[in-house]
Amino acid sequence: MGTVITVTSGKGGVGKSTISANLAVGLADAGHRVIAVDFDIGLRNLDMILGLENRIVYDVIDVMEEKCRLPQAMIHDKFSKNLFFLPASQTKDKTILDKGKVFKLITQLKEDFDYIIVDSPAGIESGFEHAILGADMALIISTPEVSSVRDADRVIGIIDAKSHKAQAGEEVEKHVIINRLKPELVEKGDMLAIQDVTNILALPLIGVVPDDERVISSTNLGEPVIRKKDTISGRAFKNIVQRLLGKDVEFLNLSPENRFMAIIKRWFT
Ligand SMILES: Nc1ncnc2c1ncn2[C@@H]1O[C@H](COP(=O)(O)OP(=O)(O)O)[C@@H](O)[C@H]1O
Ligand SMILES: [Mg+2]
Repeated sequence: MGTVITVTSGKGGVGKSTISANLAVGLADAGHRVIAVDFDIGLRNLDMILGLENRIVYDVIDVMEEKCRLPQAMIHDKFSKNLFFLPASQTKDKTILDKGKVFKLITQLKEDFDYIIVDSPAGIESGFEHAILGADMALIISTPEVSSVRDADRVIGIIDAKSHKAQAGEEVEKHVIINRLKPELVEKGDMLAIQDVTNILALPLIGVVPDDERVISSTNLGEPVIRKKDTISGRAFKNIVQRLLGKDVEFLNLSPENRFMAIIKRWFT
């Protein structure tokens, strides 16, 4: 049976879809059979980050409503033979989700895939409870800003209360990813440091992704940054993938001096 990894946050716009896409690609490239499921009903955008938006015919709601069979809605990635994608519906009506149907779908996917990456809506939005229903593991994404961390903290409580696993008395494994860290701002005292965030959330940290304009350019091209050589954010994503696979990988040194030296080194080697 596969592992369901739900990618979630308190606030919107903190990088859930970006992180879902990159981790799905990374796990698939490491040889695992992966499906990325877009559960952000109405706000579909994982397709764009994966560069698969033109291939969508059916979506996750069509599968649940039995308008098509699951394999008809699954889209095969262009580059990775191990990676599949299940698009969100663009319907405005988020109440269309039904817990029983969601759980049935997730169970079906677990039989067929090693990893099911669920890109979920933010915790404050409807549809969130459905996205965490089948989670074996939750990755809580926060930017190093007070409002983002505070909202993330609330979401942790909801995961503990509402997921199927938690209701069965088991624990959903939870990890924090800090996204869009700007080391220059942390150094000046204008942004929360990694330690501040983990102190508030009291959960293990599984990754820190720096703010990197290459994330935005690769999203526009539909090519997740993890596939780009020589990107600091791509390296951060690769490290998270390794940690998800149980490897002990050192955290990147993101201090401004270190990044400057890395750029200089690249020029001269
Ligand atoms: N590490 C990063 N560096 C720079 N931009 C980022 C980074 N992560 C995400 N972004 C950008 O932030 C915006 C929101 O990201 P997205 O993944 O759509 O968030 P969410 O799914 O949580 O709403 C997008 O424009 C995305 O390209
Ligand atoms: Mg999103």
